[in-house]
Amino acid sequence: MAGYKVLSFDKISSTQTYAHDMIAAGRATDHTIICAAAQYAGRGRYRRKWVSHHGNLYASFIFGCIERDSRLAYAVAVAIVDTLASYKITAQIKWPNDILIDGKKVSGVLIEYAGRFVIVGIGINVHSNPTVAEYQTTKLDKYADVELSDLLSRLSKNLDKWMNSEFDSVRRAWMNYAAGLNALVKYRGEMVELVGINDNGALVVRRASEYFLVHGDEILMC
Ligand code: BTN
Repeated sequence: MAGYKVLSFDKISSTQTYAHDMIAAGRATDHTIICAAAQYAGRGRYRRKWVSHHGNLYASFIFGCIERDSRLAYAVAVAIVDTLASYKITAQIKWPNDILIDGKKVSGVLIEYAGRFVIVGIGINVHSNPTVAEYQTTKLDKYADVELSDLLSRLSKNLDKWMNSEFDSVRRAWMNYAAGLNALVKYRGEMVELVGINDNGALVVRRASEYFLVHGDEILMC
């Protein structure tokens, strides 16, 4: 993991929580990866639990960060899809950064800001996939032979690459990988068309002939 400091654990509550604790204690540095073979309190978005048995990738990347940037979510998603592509696995992005194979979720991303840092938490199902009520899931070993430390190494390189790329190329790659572009999505109770993302990372949606921008997590893919 060139350029990164890696802290590995067998089983901890959550790599994300561990990263927060490091930051709070003043022990965090830019480009630190906290990874665990398993988590007993893995966390997902929307306060969901992230089931974390042995055999999958659970990692939180700590990066120095001046201010919140909604464009980061797109760079992370593209980095994950490119990492899977390096194993010849074709994946798609469901807005903003769920990663799907054949329409089933294989990876999720939780981005949290703390002090002068951003924590990018990434879970990838490699050898097992939990049953989740809200969506279908899958795992990488159905598609390729993937070794966890090799996966982390490729992922960390791709994160560096895409987080340091011009947003225009991130945006183009994201649009290329996005599932559900031009599909109908729910926004504040009404159906609108998902058109893409703009230069600032805002989501562009269309209601009849009117185009407007959506920030944050207000879109529900149907
Ligand atoms: C999602 O809801 O899709 C996001 C899931 C993020 C899970 C990862 S696993 C590593 C890190 N530690 C956690 O507790 N959560 C994130």
